[in-house]
Amino acid sequence: MFENNTSQPFIKIVNGEKTLFVHGRPYVILGGEVRNSSSSTAEFMEPIWEHLKKLNANSVFLPVSWKQIEPTEGVFDFSVVDALINRARDYGLKLILLWLATWKNGYSGYAPTWVLADEKRFPRMSPLALSPFGRETLEADCRAFSQLMEHIKNIDREYSTVIMMQVENETGMLDDSRDRTDAAEKAFNSPVPEKLLKDLYDNFDNLTEHMRELLKANGMKREGTWSEVFGNGIDADEAFMAWHIASYINTVAAAGKDRYNIPMYVNAWPRFGQNRPGQYPSGGPAQTVLDIWMSAAPEIDVLAIDTYRMFKQNCSEYRHRGNPLFIPECGGWWTGDDHPDSTPQKAFYAVGEGHCMAFSPFAIDFKLYENHPLGEAYRVLNSLMPLICRYRGTKRLRGFYPSKNVKNERITLDGYIADITYRFVPTGDGGGFDTTIGTDRDYQSYGLVIQTGDREFIVAGRGLSVDINLPDQKLYNKIVEEGYFENGLWHTTRVLNGDEVGNQGLGAIVLPAEEQYSIIGQPYISVQRVRFF
Ligand code: DGJ
Repeated sequence: MFENNTSQPFIKIVNGEKTLFVHGRPYVILGGEVRNSSSSTAEFMEPIWEHLKKLNANSVFLPVSWKQIEPTEGVFDFSVVDALINRARDYGLKLILLWLATWKNGYSGYAPTWVLADEKRFPRMSPLALSPFGRETLEADCRAFSQLMEHIKNIDREYSTVIMMQVENETGMLDDSRDRTDAAEKAFNSPVPEKLLKDLYDNFDNLTEHMRELLKANGMKREGTWSEVFGNGIDADEAFMAWHIASYINTVAAAGKDRYNIPMYVNAWPRFGQNRPGQYPSGGPAQTVLDIWMSAAPEIDVLAIDTYRMFKQNCSEYRHRGNPLFIPECGGWWTGDDHPDSTPQKAFYAVGEGHCMAFSPFAIDFKLYENHPLGEAYRVLNSLMPLICRYRGTKRLRGFYPSKNVKNERITLDGYIADITYRFVPTGDGGGFDTTIGTDRDYQSYGLVIQTGDREFIVAGRGLSVDINLPDQKLYNKIVEEGYFENGLWHTTRVLNGDEVGNQGLGAIVLPAEEQYSIIGQPYISVQRVRFF
């Protein structure tokens, strides 16, 4: 049914990882998401494009709202969308557009006024949120989204400026664990769809632990109502909401893809700590219900994670059953996570260890990001991109930063081991975060290793040392050079030996950290090529 050719973005599995292709080549999004209202006019965006270029971002996540493109039912205005696409092209940036429509952060503030004014046609599950059981709501959202996709196809198909779409934003129900409208109550007391049960039991061994335990605790039922299969507690409410919201979004995505088939994803407000469904949006693509989303929403290519806490843990939770790591939002200043090295550290880890498809801090248009080290991180990661794309999905690409009180860490590569010693190690408990927020020592050590040949490696990062060896043999004899890649070719800027390498040239690779002890002209993030003889 859908067209697909290499001129428009698509997703294909490479080395076991879902990989985004843009203009026929693998593409890792190194971007940023603007604040919610910034892309509401082209004028407001004007100074932001230049800023994004200076940050060396290759892409930007921009909201496009239903309220704005269909102010009157059936009357569409794409003038702002057109202007945004044109400016992105002028600056050589790719766009990921966020379709803010029926839901945004669990509520419905981006639905048009004519929708919110008519509760009979467009029923609510709470005063602030439309119900997924509103048939006319779904039809209206689908109509608007397909008009948008048709329009994008008409103006952008040859250019592929728009490379992906986010369908809605952080969906799920807040303030209650489930929709209690009449239609929802009826559905809740009906049998769980056969397709969902089949998918869950067919994949039983690979389900999240939460889902496996939930099914086991309720007697592994192969049929029954939501309470019979998932129990009498709040977990059944969440499972029920996940199925219905995911099905709704699947229908919206399918309507859009029918007009223009580019990759589409949803983003999660995840569960954290002891939060219960309803405290975080119940039925959104949280860790607890990823398997339900996979069953209900096959048109959704990626389940993305907005990660503001427990970064490493979130990265591994969302690499679930072939789902790639995709981070449209991270780096929350409201939690105190605004240290200059925080997003560079996360970018290195997401790319190096999470083999991500996308990395993007939220509020990239904040002044906080002017002259920010993220620009350096993106410059380095962009220059390594051909190697990153080549080794993504293999053991030859590893990334790291220290967890609380971890000074040394051993990682394995393809036949090699590497002992990492961190210069800065977080010591606080971080109150539920994975590092203490806000002190230098929490962020200044990060890096990645790429094994580029039999005895050849690229090491990049800050504030740590990396000692590479064979498992049974210490390797001493090596040449270490600092430099960069240009058009795929290595260029040496400094040959390192003596004090600049461990054990006077025979030991570990040393990536410096403190600015005042780095040499004038030396890059903020060191990239070193190591060849063993
Ligand atoms: C997560 C949402 O997805 C964003 O749109 C934004 O509201 C941030 N939270 C908080 O500012």
